Amino acid sequence: MMSRSESGLRTLPLSRPDIREEDIARAAAVLRTGMLVQGAHVAELERAVGAVLGGGVHVMAVSSGTAALHLALVALGIGPGDEVIVPAFSFVATANVVELVGARPVFVDVDPATNNLDPALLEAAITANTKIIMPVHEFGLACAIDRILAIADGHGIPVVEDAACALGATYGARAAGTFGRFGCFSLHPRKAVTSGEGGLVVTSDAALAERIARLRNHGIAEIDGAKEFVDAGYNYRLTEFQAALVSSQLTRLPRNLDYRAELAAGYCAQLDLPMVQLPIVPSGRRHAWQTFHVLLDDRVDRASLARALQAVGIQTSLGAQCIPAQRYYRGRYGFDSARQFPHAFRAWRQGLALPMSENLSLDDIAYISDHVKRLLS
Ligand SMILES: Cc1ncc(COP(=O)(O)O)c(C=O)c1O
Repeated sequence: MMSRSESGLRTLPLSRPDIREEDIARAAAVLRTGMLVQGAHVAELERAVGAVLGGGVHVMAVSSGTAALHLALVALGIGPGDEVIVPAFSFVATANVVELVGARPVFVDVDPATNNLDPALLEAAITANTKIIMPVHEFGLACAIDRILAIADGHGIPVVEDAACALGATYGARAAGTFGRFGCFSLHPRKAVTSGEGGLVVTSDAALAERIARLRNHGIAEIDGAKEFVDAGYNYRLTEFQAALVSSQLTRLPRNLDYRAELAAGYCAQLDLPMVQLPIVPSGRRHAWQTFHVLLDDRVDRASLARALQAVGIQTSLGAQCIPAQRYYRGRYGFDSARQFPHAFRAWRQGLALPMSENLSLDDIAYISDHVKRLLS
């Protein structure tokens, strides 16, 4: 449970990473060696993540989830004149990386039940210029990846999964992030395991894996035992002490996923209110519960509710953005998001992320739910 003041009020941040003394000790031990740049600890982390994802994949650790997505697009040769389909509701990085390579993001509205790209709208968004379809597993819930892959395969278009929030999520028997040409994860402190800033690129294609490994490291390749600069690469490497910090967190991931599911069930049981649309988990998927996100009725003034919750120590956030409604995208492309992407627009305006982390107790969930109920009644 989080701290409690003398008045009985609690301090419940939106999220708090589950970093323990054992994790810190491992990172500190690496710092003492002075060997800080990508090496054996990064390789060990990549091996461990590969096992978590069910094996059979190449994993490359990088400096952020955004770097992971950026490298995936660069490795697939995406550039000016190309279009990349992304959901209209996500964190802006999903679309920013498309802009970064000079391509155009084509936004598709989300399914209001899941906040994930609506596969029923996908076909209509595909043009002769579509080079990638990039669905997001929003808040840790796998999107309808089989339907998306079927449509993408029908057009011969590769899929890159933005699995930033989805380490531990599954779709059927497989891990989210292992379906597409690439899966990209974030190791930001609000994710299931964290290196501070960090990310992971996953692929089952050995040649693409090699390309990512080269691009993250200045374009260096080993040719006949000698280092050669064969690409104009980036420095998107993860450091050794960051990798060491994550490795021991990974061992707690299965337990933490179960615990988050318990907390989410607690919320769902106690927040079953007419003014609140609760998250759903379609059958056959395991939600990673990176975020517990509800959709408030249009009659609820979200800002007032968030202020009132903050006054009793409960931190909330709006969850994710309707990206085409953000100033940059609105200005560049002139979107009318409320009309063009009504579900993403509403999720951005009326969504509310409630505290979710391993440091919360079921009693904290009851405390938060009681306050939400009282404020909405
Ligand atoms: C859906 C999504 N994509 C990409 C990112 C970017 O990840 P990072 O913050 O590690 O760069 C995030 C980060 O929160 C995200 O939620």
